[in-house]
Amino acid sequence: MAANSGNTDYGVGVQTDIDPGSQADTAVLTIAHISDLHFNGTEHNNRRVRAVLDYINERSSGIDVLLVTGDIADSGHPSQYEEATKTLWSPLPMLICPGNHDARDEFGFGLLGKHSHDDPLNRAQLIAGALFISVDSSVRGQPYGHLSDHTLAWMEAQIDAQPTTTPVFLSFHHPPVRLRMPFMDHIRMADNEGLEQLVANHPNIAAMFCGHAHTGAVTTFAGRPLCLAPGVASTLNLPFEGTEVINPTQPPGLAFHTYADGRLISHFRSVVVPQS
Ligand SMILES: [Fe+2]
Repeated sequence: MAANSGNTDYGVGVQTDIDPGSQADTAVLTIAHISDLHFNGTEHNNRRVRAVLDYINERSSGIDVLLVTGDIADSGHPSQYEEATKTLWSPLPMLICPGNHDARDEFGFGLLGKHSHDDPLNRAQLIAGALFISVDSSVRGQPYGHLSDHTLAWMEAQIDAQPTTTPVFLSFHHPPVRLRMPFMDHIRMADNEGLEQLVANHPNIAAMFCGHAHTGAVTTFAGRPLCLAPGVASTLNLPFEGTEVINPTQPPGLAFHTYADGRLISHFRSVVVPQS
């Protein structure tokens, strides 16, 4: 027990002794993470996106970066990227990757202002002393994902250009592991040997972030944390939750990942959606 402690009532009848000074000297990196926005021209989806963005943006002073791990549009139509451009705003540095519902050319032109020429839309940025790498796992015309040799080589070059002490966070759309969600598992990221080797070769890769499965989840890949953001547009059922693919009872959600002392801690939030 800390010598200089104060009692805090957490509202559940538990009194906990805390020494505020004991945790004040560690730098903490905080990552906001959302996924699967599926802009489709409906107020239903747009309102859910606005709700999670408002929740994050109102707290941006305590956050270092916003990651958006794909399926920005529902069907890749240019109008959906126009909607995203108007809605998807944050004062935070933001890294966005495409998902299987996105169209690479329309995504690149609509959100990044450039023609992809069918090249993967990859990006790396140093933020708060860490290297964030956001890569394109989409495959044209296919729901499953894949990281090309070109993308893997580019990732390796980005990591190798930094000191080995720099924490690295990878983000992409498709989970590279089975989640025991049959509908999603057969369209996960395929052929992961290259990514597995990349992670094995770089101990400073601290964690990976993805989406696609519309479920907040935490597991590991190649021995490192792999965290999925909840779906903003919808949540998908686990096999025992229901026979329908989509669970209509669930609100939109987001993840806050904190990183300090070499440890990643993921917190999940559901957000109430205003109805007017
Ligand atoms: Fe999605």
